[in-house]
Amino acid sequence: MERNELLEPIPSQMKAVVVTEYGGLEKLEERMVPVPIPNENEVLVKIYACAVNNSDILMREGGYGTDTKENERAGWKREGISFPRVPGTDVAGKIISAGSNIDPKCIGENVVLFPFMSSGADGSEHMAEDITLMSSECDGGYAEYITWPKELCRPMPLESYAESASFIVSCFTAWHMLEKSNVVPGEKILITGATGGVGSYAVQLASKVFGAEVIALARDLSCKERLIDLGASEVLSYKSATLSDDILKAAGGEIDVVLDVVGNPLFSTCLQVLRNGGRLATSGAVAGAVTQLDIRTVYLKHLSIIGCTLGTRKEFDQMLSEIREGKIQPLIDKVFPLERARDAQEYFKKSEKFGKVILQNETNI
Ligand SMILES: NC(=O)c1ccc[n+]([C@@H]2O[C@H](COP(=O)([O-])OP(=O)(O)OC[C@H]3O[C@@H](n4cnc5c(N)ncnc54)[C@H](OP(=O)(O)O)[C@@H]3O)[C@@H](O)[C@H]2O)c1
Repeated sequence: MERNELLEPIPSQMKAVVVTEYGGLEKLEERMVPVPIPNENEVLVKIYACAVNNSDILMREGGYGTDTKENERAGWKREGISFPRVPGTDVAGKIISAGSNIDPKCIGENVVLFPFMSSGADGSEHMAEDITLMSSECDGGYAEYITWPKELCRPMPLESYAESASFIVSCFTAWHMLEKSNVVPGEKILITGATGGVGSYAVQLASKVFGAEVIALARDLSCKERLIDLGASEVLSYKSATLSDDILKAAGGEIDVVLDVVGNPLFSTCLQVLRNGGRLATSGAVAGAVTQLDIRTVYLKHLSIIGCTLGTRKEFDQMLSEIREGKIQPLIDKVFPLERARDAQEYFKKSEKFGKVILQNETNI
């Protein structure tokens, strides 16, 4: 196809769902806003799908802090959020125009976007002080178009926009947790929040890519077969009154590594079931961020507690390559049209979902 045939008209205005200020769902509003214009190193991407994450919701709720207290500013640069802000970090779409430094051959490519910019060197980009993350420091994917540096666009791993978007932050975080815990084949891994976005991808990655034996925790055991299909060896209910014993029995001994996104309610159990020298990787606290810790448990058992947030470009590329090879399946619970972003966020928070919630831009399909 000739390049000119790929060029499509670019409107001056687009539909976007913006957060107007910190607060409840009513602070999420559909608006017409200008279509962004790419700078010389950027491309304009027409967004077809964007996955929903806790971070979109926490940003709106002021869950990372607000501007009201000096030491409680949200965002990676501790500057507070500049409203109105378009949330959404998990974008899949098509490049439809390119800045002056970019080879226009990329126009027409379907891409997923690495979700943040940073000055950090390869391998430490996720730890830099100057991270610009979609959804907090710049506008994200709850919109029809986005501009993004071409060097942070990657070919879409699957044909479906929704499926490709489903992996981005969740699977990437799970990958980083496994990398940072130095998991080796045959190790016994306990995964909390196993029906959620991060946890369900962690089950697949741990078993199918890292070769570990996975014990998965979920509330309701009706999802047991699905988790076993994803690679779990055992699935246990976190509601059990004898959870530590259940885990040790299911694993046939103590656990080498825990991947935790739940936080407080399961924290002491997670430490209790680890072997001497075991590792706990934490990247979330969906059920409670503040916990009690008997420090003696950590030093007497020689435990390592590993904090994980986002990941590196190399890990992102490794993850995409495993997806392309079909080792990890996309897990989509429900798709909403962009206009129903409020419903999508409400559903994301309260449901017993399995996998990801996706916003789809239906006018672009
Ligand atoms: N650091 C990072 O880079 C990063 C990246 C992504 C996400 N996160 C964080 O990771 C956490 C999980 O994110 P997600 O996207 O996977 O969320 P999610 O899709 O909503 O999944 C949450 C999971 O936690 C389980 N859960 C909820 N309450 C629980 C409780 N009281 N006890 C035990 N399990 C409970 C849920 O199971 P049931 O529904 O069965 O109760 C579900 O499996 C969030 O805190 C998020 O902010 C961090």
